[in-house]
Amino acid sequence: MREIIITVATISSISGVLAFLLSLANKTIGNYGEKTVTINDEKDYIVEGGETLLSALIEENIFIPSACGGKGSCGYCKVKVLEGGGQFLPTEKGYVTEEEREQGIRLSCQCKVKENMKIEIPEELFNVEQFETTVTKMEDLTDKIKLVRLEFQDGKEMDYKPGQYIQILTPIYKESFEEIYRAYSITTPPSSKNAIELFIGYAGGICTTYVHDYLKEGDPLSIVGPFGDFQYREGDKEMVMVAIGTGMAPIMSILRYMAEKGIDRKVTFYFGARTRSDQYMMDELEELKEKLPRFELKLCLSRPTEQCNWTGEVGRVTDLLEKFEENGENKEAYLCGSPPMIDAVIPILKDKGFKEEDILYDKFE
Ligand code: FES
Repeated sequence: MREIIITVATISSISGVLAFLLSLANKTIGNYGEKTVTINDEKDYIVEGGETLLSALIEENIFIPSACGGKGSCGYCKVKVLEGGGQFLPTEKGYVTEEEREQGIRLSCQCKVKENMKIEIPEELFNVEQFETTVTKMEDLTDKIKLVRLEFQDGKEMDYKPGQYIQILTPIYKESFEEIYRAYSITTPPSSKNAIELFIGYAGGICTTYVHDYLKEGDPLSIVGPFGDFQYREGDKEMVMVAIGTGMAPIMSILRYMAEKGIDRKVTFYFGARTRSDQYMMDELEELKEKLPRFELKLCLSRPTEQCNWTGEVGRVTDLLEKFEENGENKEAYLCGSPPMIDAVIPILKDKGFKEEDILYDKFE
């Protein structure tokens, strides 16, 4: 066992050093000098050539969404490149459709600034800011999920919509050689402007390891945001929400917002967990029924044990939907969780008559 740990630690260290050397080589050997990035045909930024477009824009305090820290595995960092950017790369293929490619869509974490560029980004990204926060609460919700409360320093406030997310800037620490951004949904309603809360599940990655094993109350933490089109839509359609694990986070923000505003819409929340100890926020969800009279909570466990003493539904959220959802007419769906869960739920909803444009989803990588 000890040998395995040493081997893993050695490989991680070597990879970290190699990544550092590569980025250093990129900056020194590939010296492209200063380049101009023109955004939306109106603003010019002089940036250091050779960096990825994503990094170059961050240096200018322009934050393009990114859930994977620039690793090319989330597909969030799309921008429209009108000029420059070089050849379309194989690493972009899985995330940029043929149609998008024809329009010049690129992954900003993959294409590098080697020449002057002209790009287009949504105007709202100019409003995304970096905030310095202080961790004021950390609580174990399950053995893998922590609630983290962040209060903004210097009296700053954030305007966001229910369902949106922020990115944590994970600092360099004992187990990571680089600063990286990771995305987490806000669980609080927009009325909470000077503090937000997140549900952060342990996944073994750089950020979740930092949060679970190193971060503590009183620590500072930088975040950027808000981001995301997965937002509560005003209207009177019946709402169907589906989540597993920390996918509950943006759903909580939406439900809390509706409760605060006294929005009386029929809403059914399907939440799946493995065992009873993976269920959390159950008391608050029950209490929400008092403020949202047409709110229904449907739970299932996929692997209940004897200790669970569970008499409810057994199976996955897909089984729940098959059983309880009948007709998708005049309904809208909010899905949040792992990509396989969302990929499994969408066809079920479409079969039941949900329109494609009424299925909103947020895939957690
Ligand atoms: S940041 Fe994730 S794919 Fe570019």
